Amino acid sequence: MKQKIEAIQEKAFGLIKEAATLKDLEDLRVGILGKKGDLTLVLREMGKLSAEERPLMGKLANQARNDIENLLEEVALNLKQKEKSDKINREVIDITVPGKKFVLGKKHPITQTTQKIEEIFLGLGYEIAEGPEIETVYHNFDALNAPEEHPSRDEQDTFYINEKVCLRTQTSPVQIRVMHNQKPPIKIICPGRVYRSDDVDATHSPVFHQVEGLVVDKGVTMGDLVGTLKLVAKSLFGEKTEIRLRPHHFPFTEPSAEVDVTCWTCGGVGCKVCKNECWVEILGAGMVHPNVLRNCNLDPDIYSGFAFGMGIDRVAMSQSGINDMRLLFENDLRFLKQF
Ligand code: PHE
Repeated sequence: MKQKIEAIQEKAFGLIKEAATLKDLEDLRVGILGKKGDLTLVLREMGKLSAEERPLMGKLANQARNDIENLLEEVALNLKQKEKSDKINREVIDITVPGKKFVLGKKHPITQTTQKIEEIFLGLGYEIAEGPEIETVYHNFDALNAPEEHPSRDEQDTFYINEKVCLRTQTSPVQIRVMHNQKPPIKIICPGRVYRSDDVDATHSPVFHQVEGLVVDKGVTMGDLVGTLKLVAKSLFGEKTEIRLRPHHFPFTEPSAEVDVTCWTCGGVGCKVCKNECWVEILGAGMVHPNVLRNCNLDPDIYSGFAFGMGIDRVAMSQSGINDMRLLFENDLRFLKQF
């Protein structure tokens, strides 16, 4: 038995020293010291030995087991260190490789125009309000005094989610939300995205941008509206700009007007931009309809107000000389970089 143990130990030492991976080492451990390992099988034969021999062999076998375990541990440690240094060598980073260029973006022309408009109104003491783009039919139409049969409510014109919910067709529903939640004096603008069921062409897009304005207080007059619009037109298009109001109809204002400014390209003498009309239409406006005030629990005998709505995309296009609306939404950097 002594020879058997010595032979197993010698063979084990040879194999363990040559092990190339931790996995090989584990296989060897199981093959020698495991339940069915070589050394374990030899020890099972101890019962056949005489009473004098048994403790001697037992001691020898334990010694062999300890020696093998120690060697396994030592080789495992070496292999682990080698694997680690191999990994470090493999993953070496070449810091001389040229980096990726970071391209700095620019504000989209619509964002630039929106911010310019916001700046003007913040300077006049207005606050910026926001509302949801998915809006109730109540806020978008009913509360704004647009009756059931109003053409803008047609399925051809409006994207409905269901009978009671649609994509807002205008920023005017934000007026309703603010008046429901806030007592006058109210002085807000609400810029945002709006949706209409239009086919895409050079001047139409099913998604575009508006900025709504609303002022409600005691004693607000049409004169206040005209004065405000004059000031805004001059800030936006230049000191020499004049405005012109043409009577119009909106369900939520009375009286209502469409508002033109003198052409910012020719100054009002006629050119390609204004199609020789000298004036360019930029917004709709009017005095808040008494029904709208009532819908928001405000007494029209005490309060009055004005509202206006302006298309941002149009202003952005005309100010940057862009002649096709589609260019604003294609997000082609070669185009957008120019502004
Ligand atoms: N909401 C109107 C539109 O989209 C514009 C508007 C706003 C007109 C406020 C008057 C007052 O056409």
